[in-house]
Amino acid sequence: MQNLLIIGGNRLQGAIDIHGAKNSVLPIISASILMNGKNVIHNCPDLSDVTAALKILGFLGIKYVRNGSDIAITSRKPTKFTIPDELMRSMRSSVMFLGSILARCGKATISTPGGCMLGPRPIDIHIKALKKLGASVKEEGGTLNFSADNGLVGTEIFLDFPSVGATENVIMAATLASGVTTLHNAALEPEIGDLISFLNGAGANIYDSGNGTVIIYGVNKLSSTEHIVIPDRIEAATYMAAAAVTGGNIKLNGIENRYMTAVNNAFIKMGCNIVCKDKTIAFDAPSRLKSIDFIKSEVYPGFPTDAGPLIISALCTAEGRSVFCEKIFQNRYVFVNELSRFGADISCDKTIAAIEGKEKLYGVHCNCTDLRGGAALIIAALKAEGKSRIGNICHIKRGYQDIAKNLRLLGADIKEV
Ligand code: UD1
Repeated sequence: MQNLLIIGGNRLQGAIDIHGAKNSVLPIISASILMNGKNVIHNCPDLSDVTAALKILGFLGIKYVRNGSDIAITSRKPTKFTIPDELMRSMRSSVMFLGSILARCGKATISTPGGCMLGPRPIDIHIKALKKLGASVKEEGGTLNFSADNGLVGTEIFLDFPSVGATENVIMAATLASGVTTLHNAALEPEIGDLISFLNGAGANIYDSGNGTVIIYGVNKLSSTEHIVIPDRIEAATYMAAAAVTGGNIKLNGIENRYMTAVNNAFIKMGCNIVCKDKTIAFDAPSRLKSIDFIKSEVYPGFPTDAGPLIISALCTAEGRSVFCEKIFQNRYVFVNELSRFGADISCDKTIAAIEGKEKLYGVHCNCTDLRGGAALIIAALKAEGKSRIGNICHIKRGYQDIAKNLRLLGADIKEV
């Protein structure tokens, strides 16, 4: 099993490029099922989750060629409408294939998504919305069979919670439905805008009001398109947190600054200086970070839950006491036990994590429990005195391309062994 070896203490300095967003490219790969002809997707990160999504596409009989950060997909109606259990389990987000397979084939069979490290991940909101579009659902021995024998029909849908995945599934399903779908309380995350622009590029007719209402005018057929995936705001936040703990001074290239407001504001509260210009962020951290009295994760444009572990890790050595409140996932704090090994003082109670800033952390042997929790351990190890070994880094590879290489470019002592 691969590990990361990190010797902490180096101040990060220099410039790196941010990759395309994981959470954009995954639904975009799924949406290609709705199209016909050759789609080219640029700026795709090389991640194990992207490989898993492409495997699902291949299983459905759709050909693709991956060349560096470009993926060319020859879209057509899938030859199968079932995703086998082992492929469903290979990626937690595989549920996002539901809307596109159902719209294209009139049927879709997936296994019931199990719980995961971040707590139960039910798909009741997805199911309720797809039923409103005319799908029927039967559960049989751990599989969910969806069918829309008379086709999907546009309607008014109100999501009980602005779930990112449910919003994406509804948009994909409604794109080829007959009539108009008006989706209320839709998620506002930038990756949804990216999915919509990919679909509209191929002839879909989707209007995003930007305030939680998305109107999808159903079309009979989509053609193909060429698309550039937006930058990964969570990858950017990760390098900002890494620079923050080391008192670093870095520049991130290829950023959409308008998506970074909540994250930037958190680092500014911690005493960092941030200058956004064109598509870059110049980030300068003080020698000791300040604590944040209270910060909570929220749906976009609030502070992203995926950046929670990163900021918690940075706050472990801030001056004073900080409180983080997790509002999206039940078990987000699963990584905290591992983070505490570094000497961090964090106490968690349900949604609250109270962090007493320590002057120093110490190198340890620890294991990743999940993707963003794993990134939090790297951040702690960069600050810690001495050597750390981080195991179970398969979690990190789901969402970060070349993280060790990039951190080395910034002057960190880190290697994969
Ligand atoms: C997506 C992101 C993930 C991010 C999350 C929240 C992708 C591939 N993943 O995940 O990185 O952390 O958004 O920004 O884009 N829920 C229900 N019932 C449902 C659907 C969701 O109860 O039918 C709950 C979930 O359990 C969770 C919350 O709603 O507690 C948010 O989930 P959701 O927005 O759907 O996140 P994902 O799409 O899974």
